[in-house]
Amino acid sequence: MKAELNLEHLLPARRQLALLGDRERISKIYEDCWVNYPHVGSVRAAVRAVYEMPPKIQAQCMMISGRPGMGKTSLFKRIESDMAALRKRHADSYSCISFSLASDPTLSCFEDSISEALGVPIGKIRNGLVPDAFCMLAHLRKLRLVLIDEVHNLLNAGRIDQRKNLAFLRALSSPPMSLSIIAFGVDDAVHAISSDAQLERRFQMYDLPRWRENDSFRAFLTGYEGTLPLRRSSELWQQDKVRFLISATDGITDAIVKRITRGAVWAILDGKEKIDLVSLEKAAEIPPYLERFDDEE
Ligand SMILES: Nc1ncnc2c1ncn2[C@@H]1O[C@H](COP(=O)(O)OP(=O)(O)O)[C@@H](O)[C@H]1O
Ligand SMILES: [Mg+2]
Repeated sequence: MKAELNLEHLLPARRQLALLGDRERISKIYEDCWVNYPHVGSVRAAVRAVYEMPPKIQAQCMMISGRPGMGKTSLFKRIESDMAALRKRHADSYSCISFSLASDPTLSCFEDSISEALGVPIGKIRNGLVPDAFCMLAHLRKLRLVLIDEVHNLLNAGRIDQRKNLAFLRALSSPPMSLSIIAFGVDDAVHAISSDAQLERRFQMYDLPRWRENDSFRAFLTGYEGTLPLRRSSELWQQDKVRFLISATDGITDAIVKRITRGAVWAILDGKEKIDLVSLEKAAEIPPYLERFDDEE
């Protein structure tokens, strides 16, 4: 039977997976995966362009915002691995550090996060100034980018700490550091940055908007389907499924990915091997683990 399977709906690297047993395929379906789509592709390309810019007096910074679950942390991690891959190819190239902002950030949180990212203590931040040790280390390591996730947490600090934090970000992106800050956060983060006129001018804003019924969404669905080891094509881009997904999820990536992946598991449990509207409807619930899986090799 396997020889007759047409697996062209899958990415070449994923086709072998469709031949595995049900239990293994289900486990593969639940693994996090990255699906590129044009909008995130252009953000990644912009980060790369910033990384390649010569050091500037006022570093070019970027802010990527969107609602919870739209994919900011996934993109943050993807950009981290883009940067690691670049470093591997060009050992003498610039470097970057990345961290996620604590939920109640004070300057000492910044100190700890940066020290941890660098693997060396950076000393105390005083009056919004960058400690000398950090400055020297940044120079030695040719540090160019600072990636910060959950940057909206800046707003959780009291007013005085908030002002100190913003002054510190300003110092990072001004000489002698001139680091490019690439920040990710919910929409409120944009207000935090915009509340400081100098910072606002340095930041180019990007938004991850909710999905709507358009070519970009259909491309994302097709890309996702290409990773799911089902033996038949689901054609998720068809209008009925697209409309169902948008209305069931408010266009939030996290909810969409849950529907599709659970739908794929239901498609295996029900023996359909493709996601149809019924599988997507059932995907409101977590598909059960079946005892028969325990007998699989
Ligand atoms: N480009 C993508 N490809 C595949 N899955 C994605 C992508 N972006 C987001 N997701 C899914 O959406 C979920 C939520 O994304 P996350 O990055 O945590 O959102 P946010 O940080 O904006 O709250 C992830 O666990 C992942 O399953
Ligand atoms: Mg996140």
